Amino acid sequence: MDISLLASLPSLGIGAADLATALLFMYGLHRMSSPATASSGISVAGIGMAVAVLASFLYAFDVDSAARPDLWMNLGLAVVALALGGGMAWWAGRTVAMTAMPQMVAIYNGMGGGAAGAIAAVELFGGKTQGMTALIVTLLGALIGAVSLSGSLIAWAKLDGVIKNPLRFKAQQVVNGVVLLATLAVGAYLVVASVDKSVRVLGGLGVPASIYLFFGFALVLGILMTLPIGGADMPVVISIFNAFTGLAVGLEGFVLQNPALMIAGMVVGAAGLLLTLLMARAMNRSVSNVVFSNFGGASKHKPGKIKGELKPMQPGDAGIAMRYASSVIIVPGYGLAAAQGQGKLFDFVKLLQAGGVSVKFAIHPVAGRMPGQMDVLLAEAGVPYDMIFQLEDINDEFKTTDVALVIGANDVVNPAARTDKGSPIFGMPILNADQAKKVFVIKRGEGKGYAGIVNALFYGDNCHMVYGDAQAVLVEMIEAVRGLGLKAAA
Ligand code: TAP
Repeated sequence: MDISLLASLPSLGIGAADLATALLFMYGLHRMSSPATASSGISVAGIGMAVAVLASFLYAFDVDSAARPDLWMNLGLAVVALALGGGMAWWAGRTVAMTAMPQMVAIYNGMGGGAAGAIAAVELFGGKTQGMTALIVTLLGALIGAVSLSGSLIAWAKLDGVIKNPLRFKAQQVVNGVVLLATLAVGAYLVVASVDKSVRVLGGLGVPASIYLFFGFALVLGILMTLPIGGADMPVVISIFNAFTGLAVGLEGFVLQNPALMIAGMVVGAAGLLLTLLMARAMNRSVSNVVFSNFGGASKHKPGKIKGELKPMQPGDAGIAMRYASSVIIVPGYGLAAAQGQGKLFDFVKLLQAGGVSVKFAIHPVAGRMPGQMDVLLAEAGVPYDMIFQLEDINDEFKTTDVALVIGANDVVNPAARTDKGSPIFGMPILNADQAKKVFVIKRGEGKGYAGIVNALFYGDNCHMVYGDAQAVLVEMIEAVRGLGLKAAA
């Protein structure tokens, strides 16, 4: 065989793998747009990632790098890193609780930003980046990657309850601005020093020390940016950092001239940006309001006096009332995920259906603590997709429905969003549960929702409160309906 053909095999393989990766990522993402195909979409994108990882091994056998003496040691290190990272991710993915998913996303996102920053660090310390444009792009990727890493770690700490309260102090935005300017100044120095080696500013600080300083400032910036933001807004913040990570990875892909990195970065960056905008729109807020306001914190707004009273009801009585209703719409919220009540909920629904009751699920776009959390929860319990309706498709049906069963949801059914101009959720589209003939609300007590405000729906004439942990209440409802001699179809 022609020896030059043999030598070109790795780069041919890399090209083919890059193309396959790009197609698999895009097809995977396309399938993630519907709950029915989302799970296979994740598998497709996962295969794309595996192909991209294999392609990185082919780089090692590219003609130039084959001559490097540390080739086998680097390959060995890569295999160890893959085994460690893959093993830990596999274990974490299998054991993570549904309610801890946002924290996990935050950590993984931070790792992506950190990886982009690490690639930039290798390039900068190795002095490998040629040309001013490439250097600026590397530094930009390093800045965004480092901000995303430290910011995501703070987001994780807030979601996990390690950091309990937002940290705010006077002139916070000014301090953040100064740290950003300092980072940019060190970056500018690194660019100038790469052109004119005699330049010595920053007290004669050499290039390696300046690179450390650059990363130090960028990491501090990520921390300072995230500390003042309230826990309620963390999912949006994670989505912003997700877009940042994608951008950083894409920029480093450009520097390395690695198409797989560029494509993955662009796909993640665009998806993160879109998700951020969609979440902000679903809450009727701007992205800057999310980043700079104190949502869900110590709200100074005092709602007007709420008329009516809270009327408790026994789970069994509510269950039996639903068995004799002709239509029920279920509104799941964060509390259902916290109680892990989805399996029992679907058991109860099957019983109602066996009794001839029409049952539908109404999903609010920001119910729970992360996008799509309710869809995933219901899919996990085996609820068929044709029973699940998004807000705009079902909202008009509440007024003709016998019972709205609200389970662990609060803000997403709070009528203050329609009527109370001073409320932090004013303008957010809500599910019209209050318009149903009867409303049953399952929650443990008088705990507020994530926005920290009272809910007039619970005091309405048509509403009864069924107190208790969602799963335990559903078990009692099932027992009561079974006590009537009703059995669900197998
Ligand atoms: P929330 O308004 O947070 O209300 C959840 C309710 O569940 C609480 O009032 C709590 O009351 C109850 N609960 C908690 N644990 C329970 C359990 N084990 N059993 C039964 N009930 C339980 O939830 P939501 O209606 O889903 O609204 C989501 C909120 O998060 C919105 O404000 C939204 O803007 C915000 N948010 C969401 C997202 C995404 S993407 N989903 C992103 C950013 C912000 P008790 O303590 O009395 O039980």
